[in-house]
Amino acid sequence: MDLDKVAGEITKILVTEEQINAKIKELAAEVDARYAGKDLLLVGVLKGAVMFMADLSREMQMHAQMDWMAVSSYGSGTQSSGVVRILKDLDADVLGRHVLIVEDIIDSGLTLSWLISNLKARGAASVEIVAFLRKPDAAKVQVDVAMVGFDIPNEFVVGYGLDYAEKYRTLKGVAVLSPSVYS
Ligand code: PRP
Repeated sequence: MDLDKVAGEITKILVTEEQINAKIKELAAEVDARYAGKDLLLVGVLKGAVMFMADLSREMQMHAQMDWMAVSSYGSGTQSSGVVRILKDLDADVLGRHVLIVEDIIDSGLTLSWLISNLKARGAASVEIVAFLRKPDAAKVQVDVAMVGFDIPNEFVVGYGLDYAEKYRTLKGVAVLSPSVYS
């Protein structure tokens, strides 16, 4: 869906479709360079990373497998607690493989920091992260991220996979949601 269709529900456009497309090309080239000649498993974190995974993987010029995890953070509805429950595990065995976690957003960093430890404990040869968005001001734990698309302010953002109450994921760009929608 185009961002102009929700003009009354957003306060600001943070990333346009054109900016996303350009950034995806950059990131895909970087992944190709980093993992040249390696057996690469892309691990997408459902549901937010679906768009990013689909676009990034198609711009890459090397072979890579895709797998998915769904995790849920215990705690209040909007705040990560750092205790993560696996709702859907990987189909693939990561032992000895190079894993690149594909995430839509790093907010507190708690989900990813747990995920990295979890995948390393399974014996992956390497575990790195590519995140489409990162909110540096929201970090509760420092997560070592190999590649980031955009650093954004600590505001409630939707679009390109990111939702509010399961809505707005299908927007082609990223925007700040108007407080009138959720208050
Ligand atoms: C979002 C996002 C990350 C996590 C980041 O997922 O996709 O996985 O939160 O937050 P953190 O850095 O504070 O841990 P969410 O739980 O909203 O699920 P979704 O992707 O299905 O929307």
